[in-house]
Formats: sequence, C-alpha cells, structure tokens
Amino acid sequence: MVLPGWGGSVLLMCMSFALDGLASLSGDLPPPENLSLSWDSSVLSLRVNWREPVGLGTDCKVNYTIAIYNEQKCPPRSNTSEKHRTDRLNFEHSISKEDEICVGITTNPMDCENKKASKEVYKHLSPPRALVKNFNCVYYANETMNCTWTVVKSTPDLQLFYREEQNNKAILKHCMSYITYGNMKTGCHLHDKGLTFQKNVYFVINGTGENQLINNRFMVDISESVKILKPKVSITQEGERLHFQTITSNFIPSHCLKYKYFYSRCKKESEEEAQEMSSVYVEYDTGCRYTVRGQVIYSSLCGGKQEIESDISEPEYFGEDGDPNLPFKVAMIITPVMVCCSLIVAIVLFRRNKDIILPKIPEPSMFFKDMLNSTTDGLSKSLGGGKLYVPVKEIVASGVNVEPKSALLHPNHESCI
Ligand SMILES: *[C@@H]1O[C@H](CO)[C@@H](O)[C@H](O)[C@H]1NC(C)=O
Ligand SMILES: *[C@@H]1O[C@H](CO)[C@@H](O)[C@H](O)[C@H]1NC(C)=O
Ligand SMILES: *[C@@H]1O[C@H](CO)[C@@H](O)[C@H](O)[C@H]1NC(C)=O
Ligand SMILES: *[C@@H]1O[C@H](CO)[C@@H](O)[C@H](O)[C@H]1NC(C)=O
Ligand SMILES: *[C@@H]1O[C@H](CO)[C@@H](O)[C@H](O)[C@H]1NC(C)=O
Ligand SMILES: *[C@@H]1O[C@H](CO)[C@@H](O)[C@H](O)[C@H]1NC(C)=O
Repeated sequence: MVLPGWGGSVLLMCMSFALDGLASLSGDLPPPENLSLSWDSSVLSLRVNWREPVGLGTDCKVNYTIAIYNEQKCPPRSNTSEKHRTDRLNFEHSISKEDEICVGITTNPMDCENKKASKEVYKHLSPPRALVKNFNCVYYANETMNCTWTVVKSTPDLQLFYREEQNNKAILKHCMSYITYGNMKTGCHLHDKGLTFQKNVYFVINGTGENQLINNRFMVDISESVKILKPKVSITQEGERLHFQTITSNFIPSHCLKYKYFYSRCKKESEEEAQEMSSVYVEYDTGCRYTVRGQVIYSSLCGGKQEIESDISEPEYFGEDGDPNLPFKVAMIITPVMVCCSLIVAIVLFRRNKDIILPKIPEPSMFFKDMLNSTTDGLSKSLGGGKLYVPVKEIVASGVNVEPKSALLHPNHESCI
C-alpha cells in the first residue's frame, strides 16, 4: 500500500487513534502524557516529569513504571533491569555521568477494575556537549586518586573542580595538580583528606567550547575505582613448611582483599588462595626449587561491581631442585679422587721403601778398581794360580716389611678422604 505525502500521514494518524481506541476498549490503560526529561547538574541526576493521562475514571487509581535504558536511541533495542515504580508524577534518577539515555514509562493499574498496564512510551535525552570523554579515576593509595580523560577539542581554559559526595552545598575545590600532555590538561592527580574509601566524588569540568560555556559532570564511587599496584611476595622457611607472604599497600580494608599464589615446585604448577590473610603455608619439599608469584584481588563484596585484580608480582625463588642423576655424578667425582689418593699413597710408600724395592747397585768404579787391583798384583798371581776375582759383598736387606705399618699409613689415608 502506497500512501503519498500528507494524505498518508493523516490516514496513519487516524488508524493509530482508532487502534488506541480499540486498546482502551479492550482494557489497556492510556499511557502517561507529556513526558519530559532533563539533567539536574547540581546533584548529577536525571529528572523525569509527566502528566496523568486524561480519561482515567475517578475510581481508577494508577501508578507508573519508569524504565531507564542506557541506549542512544529510543525505542530501546534491549531489555533493562533498571525499573522503578512510583505513584507520583516525577522521578529522579542518580547517574554517574551525563550520557545518552532513553526512558520508558508505563501506566499501571493499582486499583482499577479490569484494566491492564498501558503500552510503554519513550523519551530520549542527549548529554550536554562534551569537552572531554573517557573520564576515569583510579584510587591507588590512601587518600590519593588520579583522574584522566581524553580531550575532545583543545580547550585552553579547561578546569576541573571536585567535591566529596553529591551534597550541592559543599564548595567545589580546584584541582591542584594537573596531568598534562603538551599544553593540554589530560588529568588530575588528587591528594585530599576527604578522599576516603567508600565515598563518592563529584566532578565538574568546564571550559569554553564554540563561544559557549560548557560543563561536563561526573560522579565517581571510590570503592569502584580501586587499583591495586603490583605486589611483592616473600618466601620464608618455617620448620617443615614454606611461608608465602604478599606485600602490598594497605589502603583498602583487609576484609575486602583476597590473595592468590601461583607457584611451581620442581616445575609442577600449583595455585593457592588466601582469604583476608595475606599469607599461606605450604609443605616444603627440600629437594625442590620453588617459584612463587602473588596477586591481590579486591573482592566485589566491598562495593565494586566486579572483582579488581592487581597485576601478578615478579617471581620469587626458594631452594634448589634435587638432581635425579646425583648418584652418577657423585661416582664421577669420587672415583677420580679415590684413584688419585691411592696413587699418592703408593708414591709415598714407594719413596719410603725405595732402598728395599730397588736395592743399591754397587758403584762401577769400585768394581773396576777391584778388577784393576786384582790385575796389577794379580796378573802374576793369576798367572801363577793366585786369587780369583771376588766381587764386593752385596748388601742384603734383612727384616724388611713390604707391608707398611698401619700407623704410618693412617695419616696419609685420612688426608685423602
Ligand atoms: C500536554 O501538553 C500539551 C501542550 O504542551 C497540553 O495541551 C496538554 O494539556 C498537556 N497534557 C496534560 C495531560 O497536561
Ligand atoms: C524483557 O523482560 C520482560 C520481563 O523481565 C520479558 O517479559 C520480556 O519478554 C523481555 N523483553 C525482551 C525484548 O527481551
Ligand atoms: C503500584 O501498583 C502495584 C499494583 O497494585 C503495587 O503492587 C505496587 O506496590 C505499587 N507501587 C507503588 C510504588 O505504588
Ligand atoms: C598518578 O599520577 C602521578 C602524577 O602524575 C604519577 O606519578 C603516578 O604514577 C600516577 N599513578 C597511577 C597509578 O596512575
Ligand atoms: C568554571 O567554573 C568555575 C567555578 O564554578 C568558574 O569560576 C569558572 O569561571 C568557570 N570557567 C569558565 C570557563 O567559565
Ligand atoms: C590514611 O591516611 C590517614 C591520614 O593520613 C590515616 O589516618 C589513615 O589511617 C590512613 N588509612 C590507612 C588505611 O592507611
């Protein structure tokens, strides 16, 4: 069906009125009227106003359901769990930043015979013009927080103000220490006694954009912005056990923290978890080298929507791996040592008893003198049947023990072992 121009839209309007009529006849309540949305920047919330629909009977009591969709377009594409009921004609919804939003509202029968809830009507609200985007804070030490953002367009007069809690009577404080990139302000380092755990902080960034003063507002829940810096682990031996401990900054209540240990012993990976206590004990296998890393986890029990994990620490080491080839290696070392010792003993013994083992050979000079002596006077004698050559008498060892006395052997032996 083609409905050209003006005529078509009139026809469509008639059809929709007719359908509405049918709906009310079939028992549906009319939806709320004149729905309007606005940002309340003094307390950072969304204001929703509407009117009671005309045509409710005097004996028909209704209330309303307000659904908040964090979507850029109306009608929304997905469901929301953010639904509220009220019997008044306005509603205020706290937000953490001014963002694209779509609100849906329905009339519900409270005390109204045979009537069913109306269809949902929607309204969309754009955020104010943005000076910055990606506004984000990290609370990483006691009373200390860094907030950073991305500048949308260079704004030389950009300033950041903050106050604790939403309370619009509290005065706004100046950022005292900007984080800059070139000549642009891209963040603020905050150190303030008021910045304590589980508090909300309200921020305003203002500046001139396109000849217009712009304000951007943000709310930060400190307990959801926790950042735990990379911890350190220590390992100590206590008797038969090893004690792993995590050293981390203690600006978060201890009941909010969990600790995880990733460790390997003899290259076998294990994991231990500790609740609240920053330390664990494990059995110590002395033949193993332990490699331990720790991690701190901020549990979601303390305000955060989800757990926040620190980076995993650098590894710490304890002990040394036992060697499966140890007996072989010992043999490889001991055998040469023993051979060497035996050699030394042998040499010493040999030197002691050298005379016995290798007896002195008679000096040849003596031998020849003997010979000559015998010739000078002996030639005639020999010729004349004189004396025969009598060799020098050999010295014969007597009473020699080849086996060394044990008393002698002992000191040498000990020095070898
Ligand atoms: C809604 O607004 C229109 C015009 O702004 C007005 O005529 C109408 O009466 C309003 N509806 C209710 C229920 O107040
Ligand atoms: C949204 O949720 C309601 C109840 O929680 C359910 O009846 C409805 O079908 C859901 N709609 C969509 C589009 O998922
Ligand atoms: C709205 O009406 C329903 C149905 O009678 C009731 O259960 C609910 O408590 C009411 N809510 C408010 C806020 O009045
Ligand atoms: C916070 O900002 C200060 C100052 O610029 C910087 O020294 C520090 O490293 C920052 N810390 C974190 C966790 O971002
Ligand atoms: C930003 O707000 C502060 C405090 O409200 C004000 O003093 C300052 O003039 C504002 N900056 C601009 C550019 O308007
Ligand atoms: C934080 O600092 C304040 C003052 O410097 C001190 O009173 C408080 O005990 C500190 N909190 C922690 C958890 O260290």
